[in-house]
Amino acid sequence: MGTVRFFPPTASTFASEYDALFWFFTIVCGAAAVVTFSILMFFALRYRRGTGRYVAHRGETHTWVEVVWALPVFFVVAVLFVWGARVYIDAYTPPEDAMEIFVTGKQWMWKVQHPNGHREINELHIPTDTPIRLTLTSEDVIHSFFIPAFRTKRDVLPGRYTDMWFEATQVGEYHLFCAEYCGTEHSRMVGRVIAMEPDEYQNWVGGTEEYRGPEQVASLSEIAEPPPKEPTEPAEEAVGAADGTSEAQMKSMVRAGEQLFQANACAGCHSGAAGAPCPDLAGIYDTKRSLADGTTALADANYLRESILNPQAKVVMGYPSIMPTYQGRLDDESINQLIAYIKSLSK
Ligand code: CUA
Repeated sequence: MGTVRFFPPTASTFASEYDALFWFFTIVCGAAAVVTFSILMFFALRYRRGTGRYVAHRGETHTWVEVVWALPVFFVVAVLFVWGARVYIDAYTPPEDAMEIFVTGKQWMWKVQHPNGHREINELHIPTDTPIRLTLTSEDVIHSFFIPAFRTKRDVLPGRYTDMWFEATQVGEYHLFCAEYCGTEHSRMVGRVIAMEPDEYQNWVGGTEEYRGPEQVASLSEIAEPPPKEPTEPAEEAVGAADGTSEAQMKSMVRAGEQLFQANACAGCHSGAAGAPCPDLAGIYDTKRSLADGTTALADANYLRESILNPQAKVVMGYPSIMPTYQGRLDDESINQLIAYIKSLSK
């Protein structure tokens, strides 16, 4: 690069907003420090011992003095609060139509899985001008996914999903860091984010030699050892116009999940038939579930994950607690695929 960079590139929709807030904060705090220390120095010198200017405390107060200093300070702090809260809420509320990419952290690498099943390590290819939502989890310890150029960072926790989103505004390559000390090679848990034109991304994600269409998906699910079988047709219908939208890509992930659902015999119990011993999963995603202990739980990704790994934790009212745990039998990526499948059942 040749030059020393003091600031990362500004390459996402909220990067400039974030920078504006950062500079406003820095300048306001800097100005306050300068004013405070100037006054302090002035009084310390003027009233130092030996000048004869020492005046005993008179105990007078002037309301107008208090108002004149307190109001502007209140105003500035209120601006900082409202502005900061808006940037924060914006940065942590992914838009509904965002394209979802799964990221799994482990000591010491980042594993990425695109909606069509395409995978990469320590690299994240994304289209520009497209809201991207990352769903993050860890296989071992706490990591933190940090893209300075996008001004965004999120902790990555074992046994739990977190998400972050951004929209890249400029084609380019950016640093990707782990920002949470996670062991010996933490400092080498780095990678690249490659932002590409949307159609270039489509070529990349669908057209590289590693990607072989449906076979690729089958080989992914073999990792979790389901019997190799033909992808079933029903999931195909909606693909129809494969115009490369993220929805069409999502279908491959859904299909891998469906295969796992069959291979692990989930379907035998969660058949959806009347009188089946287990809850019907169609349409449950993002709905409130009434539990046996009288409480309710939202059936989001974290809930589904917990129910797969620790089925006794939240038992749905009216059903026996008979589901075995899949802890150790399904890896994180398989669970992601199963969740994508269950999610698709609600549509
Ligand atoms: Cu992972 Cu530091």
